Amino acid sequence: MNRTTVSVLLPPGSASAALVQDVRRGLGSPPLTLPPKWLYDDEGSRLFDEITRLPGYYPTEAEREVLLGRADEIARLSGASTLVELGSGTSDKTHALLHAFRATGQLRRFVPVDVSEATLRQAAEQIATTYDVAVEAVVGDFTLHLGHLPRDDRKLVAFLGGTIGNLYVEERRAFLGALSDSLEPGDVLLLGTDLVKHADRLISAYDDPWGVTDRFVRNGLRVLNRELGADFDVGGFTYVPFWDPHLQRMDLRLRAETPMHVSVPGADLELHLASGEEIRMEISTKFTLEGIREELEAVGLIPVESWADARDDFAVTLARKGT
Ligand code: SAH
Ligand code: AVI
Repeated sequence: MNRTTVSVLLPPGSASAALVQDVRRGLGSPPLTLPPKWLYDDEGSRLFDEITRLPGYYPTEAEREVLLGRADEIARLSGASTLVELGSGTSDKTHALLHAFRATGQLRRFVPVDVSEATLRQAAEQIATTYDVAVEAVVGDFTLHLGHLPRDDRKLVAFLGGTIGNLYVEERRAFLGALSDSLEPGDVLLLGTDLVKHADRLISAYDDPWGVTDRFVRNGLRVLNRELGADFDVGGFTYVPFWDPHLQRMDLRLRAETPMHVSVPGADLELHLASGEEIRMEISTKFTLEGIREELEAVGLIPVESWADARDDFAVTLARKGT
């Protein structure tokens, strides 16, 4: 019996309407910026998967180390019968949790949520054939669709990979508030966050010598060319990643190497870029344990436990929704 269902909450056309709005808002006036969710078309998801296997990109293996060591404890502490995963991607590390839940026998449903449909479908199929759970995949946006999460069951909501760090501070506050509202008292959040560390290691993680991260970030312009008929000269930009110590985030930009005129007909936009002008394509905020606890407590999520890997690179925090 195939126990996979896929609900598509991004109706046809809505992706491009949202993209048009984001492009007008982000590229219509300086500082030029674009929400990172548009980096994840099929090629972007494939490139991100490649990034996770690069030797300098420590977050994936650091988080896997924590999950493999703590999955039994997490499954037990959560008491959940539904596991939701936001921004699930390939759900690769989630196998540690699914495996631990197999031993408890309490999990009946897995709900992965992602904007990247092909990657989500593939991951959902693989999990449905490996574990004895119903897989109810949701093609959706975790900043818009939290109200659609199941409420009929004790839930563990996993938000892994450090993806929360890709949200801007005000988006993050709104997201955490909405997430808390979508939980019932007793439900738990499992949040993966990359930790503040020396700038050199951060730069190595986001500026790999093989140029995979450069291709991943640059792919965002290809998405605009394809979806909105834009004519970005993708090769005419330089990838510029840097650490912003004040805002404690990596800032990943593309810099125009010459003056450029770009048409974006799908968004009814004409862009004039000066030589050296930059587009911010993504941020990746890094956290401290106190900072995470404060942000969770501010929205009524009570931190139960935080675990880090042996190098203190990455933390996984379990928090419970209070009454
Ligand atoms: N959780 C995985 C994947 C992280 S990559 C890991 O830890 O390795 C970030 C994932 O979030 C991608 O799969 C991307 O498609 C998804 N994503 C980004 N913005 C999103 C949004 N607003 N709503 C839903 N999914 C989103
Ligand atoms: C998905 N997210 C947590 C990644 C990160 O590290 O911020 C995205 C990424 N961008 C460049 N490399 C990885």
